[in-house]
Amino acid sequence: MAVKRAIAPEKRAQELRARIDEANYRYHVLDDPQISDQDYDALLRELLDLELAHPELQTPDSPTQRVGGTPAGGFPPYVHTRPMLSLGNAFDEAELLAFDARVRKLAAVDGDVAYTCELKIDGLAVSLRYDQGKLTAGGTRGDGSTGEDVTTNLRTIKTIPLSLRAPGSGPVPRHIDVRGEVYLRKSDFERLNAEREARGAARFANPRNTAAGGIRQLDPKMTAERSMTFYAYAVGEIDTPRPPRTQAELLACLKSLGFRVNEHARAVPSIREVIRFVEEWEVKRDELDYEIDGVVIKVDDLALQAKLGSSGKDPRWAIAFKFRAREARTKLLDIVVSVGRTGVLNPNAVLEPVQIGGTTVSNATLHNQDYIRANDIRIGDVVTVIRAGDVIPRVVGPVLELRKGNPPEYTLPTVCPVCGADVDHPEGEPMARC
Ligand code: IVH
Repeated sequence: MAVKRAIAPEKRAQELRARIDEANYRYHVLDDPQISDQDYDALLRELLDLELAHPELQTPDSPTQRVGGTPAGGFPPYVHTRPMLSLGNAFDEAELLAFDARVRKLAAVDGDVAYTCELKIDGLAVSLRYDQGKLTAGGTRGDGSTGEDVTTNLRTIKTIPLSLRAPGSGPVPRHIDVRGEVYLRKSDFERLNAEREARGAARFANPRNTAAGGIRQLDPKMTAERSMTFYAYAVGEIDTPRPPRTQAELLACLKSLGFRVNEHARAVPSIREVIRFVEEWEVKRDELDYEIDGVVIKVDDLALQAKLGSSGKDPRWAIAFKFRAREARTKLLDIVVSVGRTGVLNPNAVLEPVQIGGTTVSNATLHNQDYIRANDIRIGDVVTVIRAGDVIPRVVGPVLELRKGNPPEYTLPTVCPVCGADVDHPEGEPMARC
């Protein structure tokens, strides 16, 4: 009897973990949840209680560890078993053709070389180590050979599996380093900023910095709050009986292990098709709910990749095609205030017209008084403006080294520019109202 009782909690914990992992996978990876949020919370609460009562049952891969444990004290170094390479850049078709010509010459290939095209997500590259199917450690890229060990923070990201799923074909790799990008969706970024504005905190500048900052939080709870996500796109070391032979197979393998891989990756038979892919996505990039800054092109055949090797930090078998910048500098001529339907005063920048990614921009948002003050934006400054897709262009901040003299700080009018009534700007609130 006593023995039976001692085993039961362990079994139940295992069962709960398996059900929660499955629910997480269905919700976050497949986008196809099968249990309600309440049921999910009930399972998680039961597991938390069980682990509290039986601390010996807590495992590092338990879903309860995603909640964010105790704060980490700085980050220890994370040594990459294989270097995390960076990528050379191409900015036009001629540079892509030159890349292909070099690949064919070095590989002594006469005909076409097949490539895999992947969207270049603008986030933070990380490497995840799995031993016997369990996430054991994870780190940032750093200088390519040593990064920072941010394991606790990475565990809070729900699209990073804590344990690998058994692929349909064969066993889970004994060991695998999975590499990919941690990033923030545009919609999550907007929601996060709206929440921050509502409680009077400064807005985050862009999704990329928010993700990078989120990973380097000392308190994992702060990481968890930023609701980041992860796409896998490469492996470092891998120890498995039948390793993938092409980049396309590698992506399929990562998917079968439980990772999200980007659904727009495409294997193509030649550099001409690469160019088509690049042109297609330069136009379609705004349709995505995440920011991309280009396309990563990889030789599809992994044996050929190994043969080509790398020169310095850049592999000879891959290149990043970079889209035209969405950022420009121009002069802030004036700040005009419009009044929204709800009476909110919106300061807008009047800019010296400038070309950004193919359109002329002469207006941009400045959000509110706090934003202008926090970023020290003044009339007459040369400012950096970014245009991300269909959203209104935004003034990021001044180029301080180009500031002339000491222009006055900007303050919102105290009377409404539309009706002349008093403007109400409660202390601690970001928005002023008519
Ligand atoms: S592969 C040698 N694939 O771009 C392979 N990188 O400039 C190196 N990135 O540090 C990485 N999406 O942060 C690869 N599908 C993708 C990527 C990608 C984004 C980032 C990554 C890397 C940087 C290289």
